[in-house]
Amino acid sequence: MMPNTSARRQPVPHPFPYQGSKRSITKHILPHIPFGTGLLVEPFCGSAAVSLAAAVHGQAQRFWLNDANGPLVALWQEILERPVQLAEGYEGLWREQLEDKRAFFHRVRRQFNQKPKPHLLLYLLARIVKGAVRYSSDGRFNQSADNRRAGMRPEAMRQQLLGVSAALAARTRVTAWDFRDVVAETSADDVIYMDPPYQGTSFTRDHRYLGGLPYTEFVDALRVMNSAGKSYIVSYDGATGEKTHGEPLPPELHLQHLSIHAGRSTQSTLLGRDCQTVESLYLSPALVERLSAQAGQAQASPISRNSRLHERAPVATEFICNMPSSHRGHPPISYT
Ligand SMILES: C[S@@+](CC[C@H](N)C(=O)[O-])C[C@H]1O[C@@H](n2cnc3c(N)ncnc32)[C@H](O)[C@@H]1O
Repeated sequence: MMPNTSARRQPVPHPFPYQGSKRSITKHILPHIPFGTGLLVEPFCGSAAVSLAAAVHGQAQRFWLNDANGPLVALWQEILERPVQLAEGYEGLWREQLEDKRAFFHRVRRQFNQKPKPHLLLYLLARIVKGAVRYSSDGRFNQSADNRRAGMRPEAMRQQLLGVSAALAARTRVTAWDFRDVVAETSADDVIYMDPPYQGTSFTRDHRYLGGLPYTEFVDALRVMNSAGKSYIVSYDGATGEKTHGEPLPPELHLQHLSIHAGRSTQSTLLGRDCQTVESLYLSPALVERLSAQAGQAQASPISRNSRLHERAPVATEFICNMPSSHRGHPPISYT
């Protein structure tokens, strides 16, 4: 199968830091979106890194962003429809915090928990530790601030918000549904990119999702999608050094499994190790068929025979973790 890889050097705006964002690996994901895709759907959008990159690089005509986190989706709506007002709201908070960042953050968090407004969430996202959204068991946003940083400066934030809005507004649908309801509304021509939460991670206020998405439920949903011939890409498990994150998707789904070399893990660097992170990408059978058909057509066409369409996206099949000798004892994992 020949993924599509055109030049991808244009800067892609990004609205807020978000744990689990796929921003750093979009160049490995985009090549698997077929040319001429009409609608790209992201049912677990978070910060929508893949849709944004796809929009900037002309990889799809329309977009559907969905996330079960209602306030996050309200923020998306505001970014797309009222970026200037949102930037002003953010600037007001950012400047007001300067006297006592720590106390101000707690005040905004309390306000957000009473009434979740988009500019409050944007400020919280810009300030929280590692962009990691966390809720308590009773549904309150309870992540702490990284008090070493003030969050993105207002001028920079304004540029990002305007850039994101220009890339997506007027051609993007935004919803706060369960991913299954979104998928059920898609057609076989659409391309669906899914990046579900790791098991045990709590991203949303809704208690149904506090434990993350159970593996078996996700696999069941993929089985249904296969029977309906849906074209989809999934980011799921991965590994850093010898530590694996999440269970691989089962062979019975007949997915094409690719391993993306995502670079050095910052966490492991902090711990004095030098571990590479590898992320899994899975392509559905229907998508693989579409990409193969496109590649076949391109091979047959003299005009595109030399185009970069025929390059394969960089795929790592193994990675190495160089640990200090005191930590050794486990061989590096080979991951295919
Ligand atoms: C790993 S994050 C996605 C990150 C995203 N790819 C990015 O680039 O920022 C997973 C997202 O899935 C959302 N989520 C969790 N359960 C969900 C469900 N059942 N349906 C839809 N979204 C869900 C979470 O709120 C979270 O934002």
